[in-house]
Amino acid sequence: MSKVKFYSGEDIPLELHKVRIVQKLNLVPIERRLEAIRDAGNNTFLLRNRDIFLDMLTDSGVNAMSDRQLAAMMESDDSYAGSETFTKMKDRIKEIFGMEYLLPVHQGRAAENILAKVFVKPGQVAPMNYHFTTSKAHIVLNGGRVEELIGDEGLKVTSDNPFKGNINLDKLKALIAAEGADKIAFVRMETGTNLIGGQPHSLQNLADVSAICRKAGVMLVFDASLLADNLYFIKTREAACKDMTIREITRKIADLCDVIYFSARKLGCARGGGICTNSEAAYLKMRELITLYEGFLTYGGMSVREIEAIAVGLEETMDEDMISQGPRFIEFMVAELMKRGVPVVTPAGGLGCHVDAKRFLPQVPQAQYPAGALASAVYLTSGVRGMERGTLSEQRNPDGSELYANMELLRLAMPRRVFTLSQVKYAVDRIAWLYENRKLIGGLEFVEEPSVLRFFFGKLKATGDWQERLVAKFRADMGDSL
Ligand code: F0G
Repeated sequence: MSKVKFYSGEDIPLELHKVRIVQKLNLVPIERRLEAIRDAGNNTFLLRNRDIFLDMLTDSGVNAMSDRQLAAMMESDDSYAGSETFTKMKDRIKEIFGMEYLLPVHQGRAAENILAKVFVKPGQVAPMNYHFTTSKAHIVLNGGRVEELIGDEGLKVTSDNPFKGNINLDKLKALIAAEGADKIAFVRMETGTNLIGGQPHSLQNLADVSAICRKAGVMLVFDASLLADNLYFIKTREAACKDMTIREITRKIADLCDVIYFSARKLGCARGGGICTNSEAAYLKMRELITLYEGFLTYGGMSVREIEAIAVGLEETMDEDMISQGPRFIEFMVAELMKRGVPVVTPAGGLGCHVDAKRFLPQVPQAQYPAGALASAVYLTSGVRGMERGTLSEQRNPDGSELYANMELLRLAMPRRVFTLSQVKYAVDRIAWLYENRKLIGGLEFVEEPSVLRFFFGKLKATGDWQERLVAKFRADMGDSL
């Protein structure tokens, strides 16, 4: 990895790229932000971009593309069948993952739909380190169930464990023994484990999981959507891998898995996705569903231009300077927030910075959605849009009672190569102000609650007048600042 030392001793991430296309941002006054978040029902998904300053909702489909990706998009071979562009992506997958077959899909959840339809039978179980919303939904829709086998450390908000995404191997062995291999649809390993704060697994843990699966004759499916971040953490945190290249680590990972799928909205910094395997039998089972749900086998619902961009993006992911940028910015943000006493998930992971709403807002009960209230308050204070990852993102129990989430997190995603350091400092500064004034913040209650995926479209209102009081305090402290 390129090491750049500052004479002053300051330890800050340095961008090893330059910005050549820019987009103007709006920072609207706090009074407008209050109107906007109210109109959005305190749901950051329902805000409009014109009212947002830094969009930290997600890292999906919003990463900066490189000049080489944009150039490649111009030379795409647009044909329904037999596109040369698809061959380029297929060759790249072969070269990087060593996998023969590539099934293109329009995004990550489309891969999950096909995998679940083909491999999950009613009554079967899919053990995994941790679920992702869409991966679980597809398994459940096909009559299966999810068993989360994350190690205990994974669910601790603060920890110094470098690999909180690891599977607990004893639990995996016990589950396979108890269920019998034929009841296991597949084991799913999610790299850069999203919902517990973008936390990585080690290469060793994956090797152990793979050995258990192979011995039991169970398929190992690897969700590689957040692979770039996890590769960086394996390289920098796993002593046995420190002299391996990113390409070598990637190939070792791929050799341990039977199927790899990914959202190319994250991996490869474009939009689209893919399923890769060396098993001809698995490939043939999935092939028909691609043409049924996605499109012909040489585009799979993607624009061919995006396929060109993915092929280049995958290649660029093998560059340590490229993949280190996200995690290093997140590490910086986490460290700066910690200096100011703000409770965050540690160690810093990939994907984004995760603020612990339970500790930020101990006065807000889980029934009043502390992570949702914090997302609303952070937007109000700064124009920064984050995403609630707590009880609001869960589905109610069949009897209508709340299913309280393990963690109440506000995710501030760090799209790759998009924000500058001063923008990150701005976000830290405003969140620190909010933390000083945290006692003013109250909860949220539903006004409109959809029965499925309520976090996307649900509308809520503040309990009491805490938002008005927060605006007044902001004006008192910050004068006429935006
Ligand atoms: N797997 C993981 C680990 C993901 O993070 C996502 C998406 C998917 C699968 C589904 O991929 O969006 O292309 O259909 N995560 C996004 C996020 C939505 O904001 O974290 P997709």
